[in-house]
Amino acid sequence: MPEHYETLPSDKEPVLRLVAMPTNTNAFGDIFGGWIMSQVDIAGSIAAHRRAGGRVVTVAVNAFKLHRPVFIGDLVSCYAEVTHVGRTSITVHVDVYAERDTDPACCLRVTEADVTYVAVDADRRPRPIDHQA
Ligand SMILES: CC(C)(COP(=O)(O)OP(=O)(O)OC[C@H]1O[C@@H](n2cnc3c(N)ncnc32)[C@H](O)[C@@H]1OP(=O)(O)O)[C@@H](O)C(=O)NCCC(=O)NCCS
Repeated sequence: MPEHYETLPSDKEPVLRLVAMPTNTNAFGDIFGGWIMSQVDIAGSIAAHRRAGGRVVTVAVNAFKLHRPVFIGDLVSCYAEVTHVGRTSITVHVDVYAERDTDPACCLRVTEADVTYVAVDADRRPRPIDHQA
């Protein structure tokens, strides 16, 4: 099936970019979904940490869709956008794009997810977020 290539979002910067390596593969030689989930969690936590102004923990992954596979050598870019700020929680939408063999002309959105984080204090208790920040 021919791919319909996309372009990276031009109006925002990725919070994370990395090349998928042979050590990140599953038993069949494609990139392991758990590795992508890990990158999504890291990318979302960077946005949540910035918005919370400090330590956050992941409390829930409320949606996760792996649209297409990722292959060794793909340049993976994660975009994160805060979509909701509660009393102590922050929900982040993460979009993941892969550029095949790092070629910008062969770009696909491979994954999207909604991840919720909770701002915590030094004792790991939920901490109110400053809504004026
Ligand atoms: C995150 C944690 C501190 C929350 O503690 P808690 O006593 O459940 O806190 P609360 O019930 O007050 O919930 C805190 C916030 O999380 C939200 N929340 C809890 N469960 C949720 C879920 N499944 N989906 C979405 N939001 C959720 C609550 O709605 C609340 O948000 P708000 O303050 O903005 O209204 C606790 O569950 C925890 O430590 N979990 C383990 C986290 C972890 O180890 N993550 C992996 C390492 S980063």
